[in-house]
Amino acid sequence: MSISIDLSGRRALVTGAGRGIGRGIALRLAEAGADVAVNDLDPATAEATAEAVRALGRRSVAVAADIRTAPAVDAVADAAEAALGGVDILVNNAGISLYRAIVDCSEDDWDAHIDIMAKATFLTIRRLAPAMMERGWGRIVNLGSYVAQLNCTTKYFGPYCAAKFAIVGLTQVAAQELAPHVTVNAVGPGDVATEMMEAEWALEGRRRGIPTADVREEYRKRLILGRFEAPDDIARAVLFLCSPLGDQVTGSHLIVSGGLPFHA
Ligand SMILES: NC(=O)c1ccc[n+]([C@@H]2O[C@H](COP(=O)([O-])OP(=O)(O)OC[C@H]3O[C@@H](n4cnc5c(N)ncnc54)[C@H](O)[C@@H]3O)[C@@H](O)[C@H]2O)c1
Repeated sequence: MSISIDLSGRRALVTGAGRGIGRGIALRLAEAGADVAVNDLDPATAEATAEAVRALGRRSVAVAADIRTAPAVDAVADAAEAALGGVDILVNNAGISLYRAIVDCSEDDWDAHIDIMAKATFLTIRRLAPAMMERGWGRIVNLGSYVAQLNCTTKYFGPYCAAKFAIVGLTQVAAQELAPHVTVNAVGPGDVATEMMEAEWALEGRRRGIPTADVREEYRKRLILGRFEAPDDIARAVLFLCSPLGDQVTGSHLIVSGGLPFHA
């Protein structure tokens, strides 16, 4: 059996794709042949990713928006559909992590995590899944996390873990409701060396009064595979789920964590 990953003709929307994991996913999907609409809060980084997609020979549009409300999500979806003709692949990647103790979190901190991650995932699925079902093909991938597994939560991730567990629950329900032609999965990264992770190392260093580099090395030593993940490690898992190789996978939370939370 010969299977090639060819997403030619498929049209994707990736949220939070101006940098980090989202940018990596947008570029992987484009490299496999998909056209990609790029959302981010930051217009400049969204445009830079859209440019990189075009440089791969695919169509792209940058849609800058804060995706935490229904009108914003509807406008992003409208713009993606207008530019590409539809959306067959939806990747809910936008996220934040404040790395803050529960007792120090404000109500706004809680709302931001829940709205940007869990609520936006609900809003995009609600807006884009009906057309996927009507066309008879769709792939939805939501960014979970290795911490969104029972007994894998870690300190200072209260609202973050709550939002990611919500995403995993929503993924499982959506997989049932959107079947059989639309699959819905989550991908759960471990420690991916992005600006989000750099900020966590710096905060942890400040908390303990040690250099960021020492924290980074401590984290690295926890990894069975010995290196931090790169955005493309996660992007390749997303590509798998959107390809024929992943056709029979739905409702899963695929942990791509380099072995976390096991200790080397
Ligand atoms: N880095 C890791 O180790 C790690 C681990 C597990 C899960 N994740 C998840 O992967 C996803 C991407 O993480 P990353 O490390 O690339 O983070 P990042 O901070 O580097 O990038 C996140 C992107 O999302 C955008 N964004 C934030 N709020 C937004 C909003 N309201 N509307 C639109 N865009 C918004 C940001 O502008 C940024 O470009 C997140 O959902 C994160 O929780 C990351």
